[in-house]
Amino acid sequence: MILDGKVVASARKEELKKVLQEFPKQLHLAVILVGNHPASRSYVASKERACHEVGIDSQVIRLDEGITTGELKEVIISLNRDERVDGILVQTPLPDHINEQEILETIDPSKDVDCFHPYNVGRLFLGQPIVQPCTPKGVMEILRYYGIEVSGKKAAVIGRSNIVGKPMAALLLQANATVTICHSRTQNLAEEVKQADIVVAAVGKPRMITQEMIKPGAIVIDVGINRVDDPTTDKGYRLVGDVDFEGVKEVASAITPVPGGVGLMTVAELLWNTYTLARCRS
Ligand SMILES: NC(=O)c1ccc[n+]([C@@H]2O[C@H](COP(=O)([O-])OP(=O)(O)OC[C@H]3O[C@@H](n4cnc5c(N)ncnc54)[C@H](OP(=O)(O)O)[C@@H]3O)[C@@H](O)[C@H]2O)c1
Repeated sequence: MILDGKVVASARKEELKKVLQEFPKQLHLAVILVGNHPASRSYVASKERACHEVGIDSQVIRLDEGITTGELKEVIISLNRDERVDGILVQTPLPDHINEQEILETIDPSKDVDCFHPYNVGRLFLGQPIVQPCTPKGVMEILRYYGIEVSGKKAAVIGRSNIVGKPMAALLLQANATVTICHSRTQNLAEEVKQADIVVAAVGKPRMITQEMIKPGAIVIDVGINRVDDPTTDKGYRLVGDVDFEGVKEVASAITPVPGGVGLMTVAELLWNTYTLARCRS
């Protein structure tokens, strides 16, 4: 079975549209984009489009590449104070000279739509989240939509980043999976992954998860988004996941494609987080 992120994301957005019709406040999301990173520009554009689709006001604040950490913090502080603003998102990666952690910690936790502030991360790991990070939440929503049972299953998360791997493991644990977290120092990765009923790949290495590593019948979720050269396309590249889709789909019972999988969910859950924070503050 193909787990279609387009179908689930569209259902999530429709559901939110209905909820927003009953909500007394016009929601407002502020997105900060520093510099001209092409992938970041395209992510921000897709977030703007999605806001428009469900009726959330979005404001993109474009800042010069040369901005200092202090100046960027000032912009965030003024958004923290602005009553109209329900959610603040700083598009990463930031230029190297900016202290990213300091920036993320400047966002008021009650407007932290990405769930990157240590306060929200702490709540997540205590099992008391207000919001959940968008990509791992998107994965859980795909599993929920397709009725895939998580409780009691063995799950392997490959990758331990703060934005995907660690929170993904926390959400699976909260859903009562028995979770193994793999990373670049894991010995016998293939052996670890082969034990799992649910595999979530978040590594950033094209097609590194192959058919032989997957237990027959496992559920495979591919978070990876990697550009590989392809001179036959207009752009000269195409996107592939961390999973070798063609090989793995032959043994998995269900799999997400790239593109058309988790990526679309990330944006849908960002919209939901904007609503959740607004509701909590109202
Ligand atoms: N679909 C979406 O919306 C979405 C959102 C965010 C990210 N992504 C994509 O997801 C992927 C991961 O993103 P990220 O931000 O989590 O990346 P990241 O910060 O670079 O983390 C990669 C993780 O993979 C681990 N790793 C690297 N090589 C490995 C190997 N050979 N075996 C096992 N583990 C290995 C690293 O281990 P160490 O910790 O030991 O270095 C690290 O924990 C990227 O392709 C990214 O584009 C997609």
